[in-house]
Amino acid sequence: MSRIAYVDGAYVPLRRAAVSIRDRGFQFADSIYEVWALRGGRLFDAEAHMARLQRSLAELRITPPMGEASLWAVMRETMRRNWVRDGIVYVQISRGAANRDHVFPPPDTKATLVVTAKNLDRHAIALRAGSGVKVISLPETRWARRDIKSVNLLPNVLARQTAKESGAFEAWLVDAEGLVTEGTSSNAWIVDAAGVLRTRPLSHDILHGVTRAAILQLAQERQLRIEERAFTLDEAKAAREAFITAASNAATAVIEIDGVTIGDGRPGPVTQALRAAYLGV
Ligand SMILES: Cc1ncc(COP(=O)(O)O)c(C=O)c1O
Repeated sequence: MSRIAYVDGAYVPLRRAAVSIRDRGFQFADSIYEVWALRGGRLFDAEAHMARLQRSLAELRITPPMGEASLWAVMRETMRRNWVRDGIVYVQISRGAANRDHVFPPPDTKATLVVTAKNLDRHAIALRAGSGVKVISLPETRWARRDIKSVNLLPNVLARQTAKESGAFEAWLVDAEGLVTEGTSSNAWIVDAAGVLRTRPLSHDILHGVTRAAILQLAQERQLRIEERAFTLDEAKAAREAFITAASNAATAVIEIDGVTIGDGRPGPVTQALRAAYLGV
């Protein structure tokens, strides 16, 4: 079955889906995106992802191509046409197509909107969560506004490729102070040696993960000891547990960092409890 994408007003087969070479997303990464996870036909944290999309647009002063209600409708229709029940919906909005010029194009330039949806291998995701994943550390080389979910992802891509070539699933990025910022496409957490659940506080340094917020809320409800405080790589390596959060992976245990085994090398109880609570299983 051919997959269908929504591109600027039309639902088209993926092989024919295209945007202009003048598109500022292509030319300058002048574009934002958002990703929702769908499980059993339900969009997780639907409103929070939409709110972050609107915030990313506002931060870059991109005029939304349509209202929120219309965007929901396009997303639902894209999911329906692709028969997606367990997977992701991806929305990308660029500042539109214009003659190549660094300054913003004329105000009547219409933003480009692309929506795709695809099923993910739920079994593979569950297996990964069951065994936990390996992480490597790399220097933080991204721009200073990582809170904006822009498609400016080249450093993330390069770091993720290095992780893959090292046999790891994710790379944790480490800032000039030696503190972990986040993963290339996930937020980073530990249960430190003292048993405190820790993740870096919100700032321009990290993406404000929607799953991060939901897991934090669940941890608070369970009255865990929590500190939104950055941790060093050494603290992470000495942690009882480590995990990552992202829409498509929920909370997934990290069992090794730079070859150092975390805890007993298996997903720990805090990670597993928070994952189960998040997924409602
Ligand atoms: C850099 C980065 N950090 C964190 C996350 C996790 O965010 P969320 O939980 O909203 O998916 C992502 C998701 O893609 C990301 O790209």
